[in-house]
Amino acid sequence: MQSIEIYSDAISLAANTANKIVNNAVQAIKNKGVFSIALAGGSTPRGVYRLLASEQYEDQIDWDRVHVFWGDERSVPPEDADSNHLLARQTLLDHILIPSENIHRIKAELPPENAAADYERDLINFFKLSGGGTPRFDLVLLGLGEDGHTASLFPNTAALTIDQQLVVANKVDKLDSWRITFTPRLINSAAKVFFLVSGEIKSEILQLVLEGEFQPNLYPAQLIKPTNGKLQWLVDQQAASRLKK
Ligand code: 6PG
Repeated sequence: MQSIEIYSDAISLAANTANKIVNNAVQAIKNKGVFSIALAGGSTPRGVYRLLASEQYEDQIDWDRVHVFWGDERSVPPEDADSNHLLARQTLLDHILIPSENIHRIKAELPPENAAADYERDLINFFKLSGGGTPRFDLVLLGLGEDGHTASLFPNTAALTIDQQLVVANKVDKLDSWRITFTPRLINSAAKVFFLVSGEIKSEILQLVLEGEFQPNLYPAQLIKPTNGKLQWLVDQQAASRLKK
């Protein structure tokens, strides 16, 4: 099931996303005592992370019961400026009372294949899966690249068709770099997926992904269709400006 929510601007998008994350966390913790979330990298979620770390949201989430993961990571050490982990530390994690064991960092300083295998083991351990099942995140946050990528599922890369693994190392030739990323199988196993899309610069790709022909190799974001969960596109008016429906 998919829905699109259009907000007046980036500030309203961030505020509504933060509120939705709080609501999902409170509900999950109430129902099962834990909330698992996979964060997105890039710049769009910054405003959301900063809000969640602000006084306005203090005490709204019982961070003791929240486990934080990442949907993807650049193949760099944790202190590297490109690190998605560093972004989340600086904007959120270093400003809230969350136990360090609840922060599941991708060890991207390792060789990419090792980092991916290590993270897959962490996921299997955390979700207590032995028989080859697929972890079901309560919430996965995703961004949308101008080229239609999401997480580190880039156009025409090997990760798009891998479904035997949960996490893979993905060589992105156009960036001449390696990434570690959730596979579509893992993302689509989530109970809820939020795509956060902001700005005029994303208007063309958003229209192509949502209303264009199904070409997932070109627009990997089109691969995201939760099997038994909800997909919510949370966008601002600038990003939605070319949508026809
Ligand atoms: C990353 C992200 C990536 C990001 C998109 C959008 O590691 O960069 O996971 O998928 O979400 O590139 O990035 P912006 O939010 O910066 O536009």
